[in-house]
Amino acid sequence: MKERVAKKIEVFFSPAQVDELAVRGRNVVIVDVLRASTTIAAALFNGAKEIIPVASVESAVKISGSLFGDVTLRGGERNGKIIEGFNLGNSPWEYSEEAVKGKSIIYTSTNGSGAMVKARYAQNLVIGGFVNLSKVVVFLKGLKGDGTIICAGRENEFCLEDAVCSGMMLFKLQQSVRTLELDDAGKASLVLFMKFGKNILRMLQESEHGQFLTDIGFEKDLNICAAIDSISVLPIMSGNVIKLTKSVLSGVNQQAVA
Ligand code: MLT
Repeated sequence: MKERVAKKIEVFFSPAQVDELAVRGRNVVIVDVLRASTTIAAALFNGAKEIIPVASVESAVKISGSLFGDVTLRGGERNGKIIEGFNLGNSPWEYSEEAVKGKSIIYTSTNGSGAMVKARYAQNLVIGGFVNLSKVVVFLKGLKGDGTIICAGRENEFCLEDAVCSGMMLFKLQQSVRTLELDDAGKASLVLFMKFGKNILRMLQESEHGQFLTDIGFEKDLNICAAIDSISVLPIMSGNVIKLTKSVLSGVNQQAVA
C-alpha cells in the first residue's frame, strides 16, 4: 500500500559534492557497488563482528595496532589490489565465514570507506548495493524523515554502477511511496536505471570500474556484485563502526526494517 506522506530523497553522485556537516542529522545510504558495499555486506553476513571503515591505509594500520592478526583483521584495497601487510583484499568472496567470523575488520578502500567516514555524522547511516537492495528500500520507506543517497563514485567522479543502483532503489521506493520527491540527481539516476537496469551484470562489465577490475583479474567479483538481494543484510554504521544492529536506528519504523 502506498504511503500518503511525501518523502524527499536527494542523491549525490560523488562524495566530493558532500559537505560532512550538511549531512549531520540526515538519513544516509552509501552506495559503492564495486565493491565496498558488497564486500561489507558479505563480511557481516558471514559473521564478522564489525567493520571499522577508515579513509587511509595509515589509519588502518594505526587503529589495528597490537590487536592485529588475532581478533582484528585489516581489509581493503588500493588500485583494486590487497594492501601490503593486510589480511584481506576487497573481493567479497574473500570475506568467507572461515575468514571473518567473530572478527573486527579495519577496512579501507579507495572510494567507499572515505565516503562512509565523511557521512559519519548522519542520524542513520546504512550501506547499500545491488546485493541488499530490498533491505535498503525498506529502510528508506521506514524513515520518518527524508533521505540522502551518496554514491561513492570513482576517484571523486561520477560512476555508472552506483548511479544505476541508486536509480533502482528509487524505482522500487516509488512503487510504495505515493509522493516521492526527487532532486535532479535522483531523477537522473532513475533514468539511468531505466536505460541500464535490464542487465545489471552487463552494465557492470561495461562500466569503467568493471572493466578495470576485469583487467586486473577480478571479473568474478562482478557476478557477485550484480546479484540482486543475494546478501540480504542491512549494514548500519553508528559511532564509526558498521554492524547489523538495527536497534541503533532512530526515527525509523522499526517494524519495517525488522
Ligand atoms: C572503493 O571503495 O574504491 C572500491 O570498493 C574499489 C574496489 O573495487 O576495490
